Amino acid sequence: MNPVIKKTQAFKDQKPGTSGLRKSVKYFKADNYLQNFIQSIFNCLDELEGSTLVLGGDGRFFNREAIQIILRMAAANGVGKILLGQGGILSTPAASHVIRKYKALGGILLTASHNPGGPNGDFGVKFNISNGGPAPEKLTNAIFEESKRLSEYKITEAQVSPIDKLGSFKLAEMEIEVFDPVKDYADLMESIFDFEKIRELIASPDFTACFDAMNAVTGPYAEEILGKRLGMDKNALMNTQPLMNFGGKHPDPNLSTAKQLVDKMYSKKDAPNFGAASDGDGDRHMILGDYFFVNPSDSLAILAANAQKIPAYQNGIIGIARSMPTSQAADKVAEKLGINSFQTPTGWKFFGNLLDHGEITFCGEESFGAGADHIREKDGLWAVLFWLNLIAVKQDSVENIVRNHWAEYGRSYYSRHDYERLPVKQADEIMHHLQSSLPLLPGMQFGELRIEKADDFTYIDPIDHSISEHQGIRIIFDNGSRIIYRLSGTGTEGATLRIYLERYEADISKHDLDIQETLSDISQLSVKLAKIREYTDRERPSAIV
Ligand code: G1P
Ligand code: ZN
Repeated sequence: MNPVIKKTQAFKDQKPGTSGLRKSVKYFKADNYLQNFIQSIFNCLDELEGSTLVLGGDGRFFNREAIQIILRMAAANGVGKILLGQGGILSTPAASHVIRKYKALGGILLTASHNPGGPNGDFGVKFNISNGGPAPEKLTNAIFEESKRLSEYKITEAQVSPIDKLGSFKLAEMEIEVFDPVKDYADLMESIFDFEKIRELIASPDFTACFDAMNAVTGPYAEEILGKRLGMDKNALMNTQPLMNFGGKHPDPNLSTAKQLVDKMYSKKDAPNFGAASDGDGDRHMILGDYFFVNPSDSLAILAANAQKIPAYQNGIIGIARSMPTSQAADKVAEKLGINSFQTPTGWKFFGNLLDHGEITFCGEESFGAGADHIREKDGLWAVLFWLNLIAVKQDSVENIVRNHWAEYGRSYYSRHDYERLPVKQADEIMHHLQSSLPLLPGMQFGELRIEKADDFTYIDPIDHSISEHQGIRIIFDNGSRIIYRLSGTGTEGATLRIYLERYEADISKHDLDIQETLSDISQLSVKLAKIREYTDRERPSAIV
């Protein structure tokens, strides 16, 4: 069947953000918006002809239609083979693994991560390269430039392809292999952790656990790994059916959006010992103990400090990287272990080079993301299994594991205050104001807080020396406390200003304070320095994470 060349109008707004191109479903469905972006990706891949690509998504609304369009376009653009997750389902970490395992040229991941789904929700497209990780900025910039001048795209007029049955078939000259999206990933997890020990823990009458898949992509993965392979009871696996609108919920594992799980874990009576949740596409995680929340920055530090208790890391780890706004808890661990430690801009793509070149083993972000060198994406279930394996080895509660960690390394009180859906103009004004006040800030004293350093974070990749500028305003105090400001690169409505607040406390007698109270002086200062009250009409953040 001959490819058909269709004329199209270029868009000016297809710039990929922190993690791919995200827009509302309405955008993606109209005016060849999806087609243009896919053609722009294809046009930037030199080795596309005859290549193998991985395809799948988090199952959100428009996933299945988008897959049909992409299959027809891939066939018309000379792709040799598509490895397609059955039913169009493929978690982000599993996609990363499959790209690596089958040496694909890359993968197209259809996800808007934790953003809500449904006809009025969001959709997203992300391209990952052959190392399994998100395309680096060089490639996303090239795709954006291409999208601004695109005038045509290629598509076959072939029939709709079946995607629900395992097996191989042809679409024009291209082979499509529909594969089980869970098996390879489950096997990988089994090769990293001590499944026998975790099975014993789960079977023990003294331990109860639950997992909330939030009606998102991790449902089938949790059923296979936590249920079938590790023996977790069906009732302990919550919301495992992936739904196109995530059951109307916001598939983000945090204390306000994972309400069902949080209510269970904070109930006075019969709360399980361990609770966890993952997000829309399965790369985020939240860990809870009985009436206890593990801050994600702490989670990264604790996993790193205890790496040698896990079979895959028993010989130790090489280094840890964290995104710049993530708390400094992981740095303390790296320092003690005498291993590499890096600070990168926000977004997983910046970890790729460090992982590929053996500079780090673990990496993570404050936004409920942690991962390791087994793939090139953050990995929600990996973190959950890590915690279970750790509890099985230590035979201790989540809370004790965290408290003992603080006792040894000190506690980083940490919180993120978000101002969502701000008019873009206001958000830009705030950032410009902060940028212009940077030279004046060092040396200024506010009560007990003295500013030691203030800058606009620039990252120079230690491997390829590429430079990424304007990655967040940093205000660093002489006691190690920090205020960081940056604008979100994943939102689809207006602008979101994120303010990250951190205060370090070494004194163990002060490890039980209220987080927001402890951070209140820094928080008030953050509002004052950014002139939030002057530039916006907001009295308080719209979300506190
Ligand atoms: C957010 C998080 C960031 C994460 C990204 C994708 O991006 O802050 O850490 O990598 O989602 O999950 P942001 O909206 O802040 O640009
Ligand atoms: Zn995600």
